[in-house]
Amino acid sequence: MDSSELQQLIVETLAKDSVIPDTRKLSPLGVKGKATPVEDPNAVISALASLASREIVSYEQHDTFTYFLTAEGAQIARDGSHEALVWAAVPTKGSGQVITIKQLQDQLGQTAKIGQGKAFKNEWVGKEGDKLFKKVATIVDTTKEELTEVEKTGTLKGGEKAIAELRKRKLLEQKKSLWYSVKQGPAFTTDLRKPETDLTAEMIATGSWKNSNFKQYNFDADGTPTNGGALHPLMKVREEVKGIFFEMGFAEMPTDAFVESCFWNFDALYVPQQHPARETQDTFYVSSPAKALAPPRDYLERVASYHIRGSPDGTSRGYQAPFSLDESHRLLLRTHTTAVSARMLYALAQKGKKEGFKPAKLFSIDRVFRNEAVDATHLAEFHQVEGVVADRGLTLGDLIGFMQTFFAKMGLPNLRFKPAYNPYTEPSLEIFCWHPGLGKWVEIGNSGMFRPEMLEPMGFPPGVRVHGWGLGLERPTMIRYGITNIRSLVGHKVSIEGVEKSPAVRF
Ligand code: PHE
Repeated sequence: MDSSELQQLIVETLAKDSVIPDTRKLSPLGVKGKATPVEDPNAVISALASLASREIVSYEQHDTFTYFLTAEGAQIARDGSHEALVWAAVPTKGSGQVITIKQLQDQLGQTAKIGQGKAFKNEWVGKEGDKLFKKVATIVDTTKEELTEVEKTGTLKGGEKAIAELRKRKLLEQKKSLWYSVKQGPAFTTDLRKPETDLTAEMIATGSWKNSNFKQYNFDADGTPTNGGALHPLMKVREEVKGIFFEMGFAEMPTDAFVESCFWNFDALYVPQQHPARETQDTFYVSSPAKALAPPRDYLERVASYHIRGSPDGTSRGYQAPFSLDESHRLLLRTHTTAVSARMLYALAQKGKKEGFKPAKLFSIDRVFRNEAVDATHLAEFHQVEGVVADRGLTLGDLIGFMQTFFAKMGLPNLRFKPAYNPYTEPSLEIFCWHPGLGKWVEIGNSGMFRPEMLEPMGFPPGVRVHGWGLGLERPTMIRYGITNIRSLVGHKVSIEGVEKSPAVRF
């Protein structure tokens, strides 16, 4: 009988009798009172569990002890108890026959030894000298009768005491068995066809849905895990770095304009118009539209004048070179996020003119573009991280202090600085950090105090200093994730699976 037949038997029996008080008495269709062939309790429980999950039945579990005979018990049930065998072997007094204890032992062996005592105690046999006689004409062999009953029914009506006695004599062994009582459930049916799991167009067209049995939704089931979005490793690192800036009290700059004018990308930063960075081999220029919107007129004039002649008080002599408005109005893909810092610093200075200067800490993390040969570690676009601080009386010590705090939070506590050149900062410092993995100092960024030639035309009051530092996002990310080729991090060769599985970073 397989599980579906057993399930069918259970519901048919319930349809007839409405309850099954004891699954051990479950009888095959129609024939009542006969023991079921289904004696495997596992088969019964799995059939019941399956029916109960569809609310066709409900059931309760019970347990009972049943008993079975040991080898010796089975022998007694067949041949009689040792004491009965002793009694049978002993002659009646006056029959002319005699048997001595020795002869009985020779005849019955072990049985004589075990049975004698009990036969005496029951007063079944008596002794004269060394001869044995029957004391009664008939006996009732209770042990044999009890064992026969256990063999047939698995238990004894005589009760626990008698059972305990037989177990002590090692004639019985106990076994715990499970059985179930079963009732009809709220969705009782004898129709066990598999319920439909889908409502199909065909069912609607033929109308067969009306008579179909539909499977209930299991609202407790775990769903299949959804394939949700995942942050790209670069974006994970960006989130971390943003967190560090926010912790240090910085506000984020708007970096959504990738196309900039030469004015904001270079001129406002006091990058001479003849600077090699402006060459087409380094910078992507945009041909359409041909011209950028002009910056505020007075500011453009001040910037041009600082480039050509320097400061009005003569502290700076400028570049002593021509300044072209056409050059200033060209459009390009920004080569650094410092173009955004320039716009923000100009706005800060202008606001300060009206409302009084207020210090500011600003940061940005976004994409920049350079016309570079693409190799394993360089792309023509990458992300820059930049921090800028404007306040009265800032010194180079403040800049170094900010960078030490910032990089320590990124897990890079060992920094070294090397004098460098930037057109817009003086002094300028290259930033090196100790790379424990590579066992050497690696360059990670660039920094400096912004020049008066850049800050004065913006309109900052005297005494206000601005410093800043910048670094790439890709290099720390590659180090964090152990990536050696930039193409595994950016572009069409990036493994989506890798992106989904890469852990969040913690600096
Ligand atoms: N703009 C610089 C670069 O591209 C970084 C920098 C930012 C330097 C701010 C000084 C001040 O490397």
